[in-house]
Amino acid sequence: MNINDIRQQFPVLDQQAYGKPLVYFDNAATTQKPLCVIDRERDYYLHENCNIHRGVHYLSQKATEAYEHARQTVADFIHAKESREIVFTRGTTESLNLLATSFEHLFFSKTHNSQLLTDSQLSTLNSQLTTPKVLITAMEHHSNLVPWQQMIQRHHGQLLVVPMDDKGVLDLEQYEKLLKEEPKVVSIAHISNVLGTINPIKQMIAMAHQYGIPVVIDGAQSMAHHPIDVQDLDCDFFVFSGHKMYAPMGIGGLYGKAEWLEKLPPYQFGGEMVDTVSFEKTTFNVLPFKFEAGTPNVGAALGLESAIQFLQGFDRMEVEAHENQLLQSAIQQLSAIEGIRFIGQAEQRSGLVSFIIDGVHPYDLGTIIDKMGVAVRTGHHCAEPVMTRFGIPGTVRASFAMYNTMEEVEVFVKAVQRAAMMLR
Ligand SMILES: Cc1ncc(COP(=O)(O)O)c(C=O)c1O
Repeated sequence: MNINDIRQQFPVLDQQAYGKPLVYFDNAATTQKPLCVIDRERDYYLHENCNIHRGVHYLSQKATEAYEHARQTVADFIHAKESREIVFTRGTTESLNLLATSFEHLFFSKTHNSQLLTDSQLSTLNSQLTTPKVLITAMEHHSNLVPWQQMIQRHHGQLLVVPMDDKGVLDLEQYEKLLKEEPKVVSIAHISNVLGTINPIKQMIAMAHQYGIPVVIDGAQSMAHHPIDVQDLDCDFFVFSGHKMYAPMGIGGLYGKAEWLEKLPPYQFGGEMVDTVSFEKTTFNVLPFKFEAGTPNVGAALGLESAIQFLQGFDRMEVEAHENQLLQSAIQQLSAIEGIRFIGQAEQRSGLVSFIIDGVHPYDLGTIIDKMGVAVRTGHHCAEPVMTRFGIPGTVRASFAMYNTMEEVEVFVKAVQRAAMMLR
């Protein structure tokens, strides 16, 4: 793996910020895009742009074929059984909102059920209506918390939360206890965007299945860094964002086992997701189109396919090892700074490091190192309950990608040291 060659694919990295070479360590927020992804999207608009699925003409068929090919590529990448198990969405947030809304219709909402389900489905389900409970963990991004919470609150239900220890490791004994409270869904981050913890999702999925509870995995932070096999994990749903895995913004996905996607009612309504429509009644399209209302972001989906092909061009283990080396080196060098406290110290962790320094506000530190050319993220990282858990206002977070180098880690650590000295 030649990092210089890789960096050639990312022209955006080759620039100065405030007169200093840019060090981009904000990859957990979004990764940069390689030329092949940018070219693929441009190419689509140059040669293939057309609305899909609806036209009989040449260009529409070409665009439709390309879009469906991209769906197959995503399915193969995460080892889904069938491409109809992949729904394109705008990203993780939209996928999770889709799931929260559809689960609400399926399990908790009498009124909505009546519009979306057959009479016999309705009477069976209404007889099973219970206090809605959804189980998440203490380290979730707001995207995997607020949609469930809002849905639950509409039905006076309960959000169950698996606690974690001071290192940022989930308490599996508590998890088991909470499973016994019979939540209807479990939704867990694969990797925490604040702590870097890699959760033992395979084990957690198996545990939930013993109680017959379906599991959603938030893969926003894992797709770019770890090979995913949804069949091996046996998760019921897996959601992700393209822009965090070298693909364009505005595209992402939802994997769902076909039997679950068949059961869930649609999320948004409009063109393409319907089968027949009259003023009295609408019937819905087959999978995955039932969940794709309106004109999709075709260009971005093709960009996503290209990003996947880009990733497939590498030995994924080698990429993972490289990102891990960057992480270990950053942790080791940062440890020398007086008053540093790492937030998230799990043994199983991915390529990001979060920290605070005594007497230094994370925001001030981030602002000063930015002037030294170093881009990191500061704040609560859309995970306020994690900040509350650790009793802090926010952290400084550096997150790595395959194009980052050891030299950049050194520049970053020196910048942090200087900023800390200035601020104390
Ligand atoms: C763990 C996790 N879940 C969900 C999201 C939301 O992703 P998006 O904003 O792409 O929808 C993020 C984004 O940072 C994340 O890190």
